[in-house]
Amino acid sequence: MSGAAASRRPGAVRLFEVGPRDGLQNEALLVPLEQKLRFIEQLIAAGLSDIEVGAFVHPKWVPQMADADELVRRLPAREGVRYWALVPNERGLDRALAAGAAHLGLLASASETHSRKNINRSVDRVRAENRRVATRALAAGATLRGYVSVAFGCPYEGEVPLDRVLRLAEEYLEMGVAQVALGDTTGMAEPDQIRRAAGRALDAFGAERIAFHLHDTRGTGLVHALTALEEGVTTLDASTGGIGGCPYAPGAAGNLATEDLLYLLDRLGIGTGVGLEGIVAASQWLRDELGLAIPSRYFRFAIADR
Ligand code: HMG
Ligand code: MG
Repeated sequence: MSGAAASRRPGAVRLFEVGPRDGLQNEALLVPLEQKLRFIEQLIAAGLSDIEVGAFVHPKWVPQMADADELVRRLPAREGVRYWALVPNERGLDRALAAGAAHLGLLASASETHSRKNINRSVDRVRAENRRVATRALAAGATLRGYVSVAFGCPYEGEVPLDRVLRLAEEYLEMGVAQVALGDTTGMAEPDQIRRAAGRALDAFGAERIAFHLHDTRGTGLVHALTALEEGVTTLDASTGGIGGCPYAPGAAGNLATEDLLYLLDRLGIGTGVGLEGIVAASQWLRDELGLAIPSRYFRFAIADR
């Protein structure tokens, strides 16, 4: 049996686009609402069907997300497209439901220090609040995903035990969360860690329940994506252009770039339903219209002569 056939590499992957949220949240330039809507339109045109568009966080903490309410109200209804938004607490949930958001992301950190820096609460307080948020959100008919941040290492505390991460994931699933995204928030993971985490998480919970949310801080994003794929992971997060990062994690650079990941998936013959050229066009728009720096390697290659 060949290596590829022997591995649990999937035939298709769900690409979960976080550019309008994780990507833009770390950009100093405040992007006007109309421009955000145009960015999202281009992502839809490229074939993406899961797009994280914003966050109902405190506007003082992340000014870029201050227009989440209005943005969600104005999103175009498109068949098969799911718009996601982050909800850090009950106040965020109130805003999300009032705006009509139907797909919500909950936050939790696998380290105490990152939790306090990121959402000003202890991990236990966040877990308790997430339970209340999940109960209310599910009663309102919402679908949930849950992030475990700093799952592969914390920039403040260092090593994070995998058992702690898996317990947080299990707790999310018990609350009714549909999928847990394991976050390499500052790109600290090592390939063997990704392999172990993917193997144990998929054995315990199944591939549909687990996503990998990789940041490319140290240039290991694609290696980690391939490692996760070899373990059978079927949902991967990415941001168009590779923009972004977590403002409350020092050194957090952009997410793995959607076009870099998509190029790899195409070469592996793994289906996504997303067109590489459309993502490159969206990155080019981010560069030319918004003046953003685009870290993606594939992008630099693709636009070399444009
Ligand atoms: P806080 O200051 O502790 O809030 O912020 P509080 O509960 O003490 O309340 C203070 C005031 O804020 C009150 O108003 C609340 O109503 C209001 P007052 O009574 O004084 O007039 N308030 C809010 N207003 C609007 N929206 C809200 C909200 N909550 C309270 N949701 C809070 C706590 C969680 C809100 C804050 O810490 C926060 O917004 N943090 C978010 C930081 C953030 O967005 N980080 C980046 C996203 S996480 C990430 O990037 C990682 C990820 O990508 C995965 C990975 O890479 O691993 C997901
Ligand atoms: Mg992130």
